[in-house]
Amino acid sequence: MVQPEPELAAAGSESGLITIPQAVIFDLDGVITDTAEFHFLAWRQLGAELGIEVDRMLNEQLKGVSRLQSLELILAAAPEPVIVPEAVLEQLAARKNARYTSLISSITPKDILPGICSLLDDLRAAGLKLAIGSASRNAPFVLERLELAGAFDYVVDAGRIKRGKPDPETFLDAADYLKVSGRECIGIEDSAAGIEAIQRAGMFAVGIGSTHTLMQADYLVPSTQYLNRDDILGAYSRWIRRS
Ligand code: BG6
Ligand code: MG
Repeated sequence: MVQPEPELAAAGSESGLITIPQAVIFDLDGVITDTAEFHFLAWRQLGAELGIEVDRMLNEQLKGVSRLQSLELILAAAPEPVIVPEAVLEQLAARKNARYTSLISSITPKDILPGICSLLDDLRAAGLKLAIGSASRNAPFVLERLELAGAFDYVVDAGRIKRGKPDPETFLDAADYLKVSGRECIGIEDSAAGIEAIQRAGMFAVGIGSTHTLMQADYLVPSTQYLNRDDILGAYSRWIRRS
């Protein structure tokens, strides 16, 4: 089946009326701040200890995916099949998390990715509700370090989500709390699993990354510095009219 291509950034100026959505749900790791790289470094080190190479290609599959599911994907990439008892899985996941939390312990508001603060301000000024839809149990800590804990109306509690991305539950949970429908929401993600989750929630999916990995996104920018409220709202508006 031929997939529709994502609308790329710098789509040009909007003509006609802009439809304003009600809420924007942000992924955290790799969208608000570059903690996606710290997840990668921590997994790569654990992989090396287990004799499994975690390269950037495998890492793309780990983005957006829960801690234990990521570990299972890494173990599935072992040169020889491995069977790991549940208790050991937990220990390995805890070891990765210890490394990850030590890497993020020193992040500051300077680590907020370019363009994010002005985007949050602009969306807020337009009256939109804002939420974080992250798979990370470390999300509250990261937001606190970035001094962004008060910037969102709601932060999805990853510990309460039964089905992780690409299941839509994370995004639907945020929409439910904010009392808005899926169609009234925009989701912003840097992972293929996250883009699928947003779209399965019936929301407009903004991707940050390359067409190579995020071809399914409804609107795509190469990095956060290209995120701009009016361009996003224009693309959302065209999406609403098409659907
Ligand atoms: C997601 C990351 O946001 O959170 C994944 O993209 C990570 O890489 C997942 O595995 C779970 O994070 P944590 O901090 O709970 O291990
Ligand atoms: Mg992410």
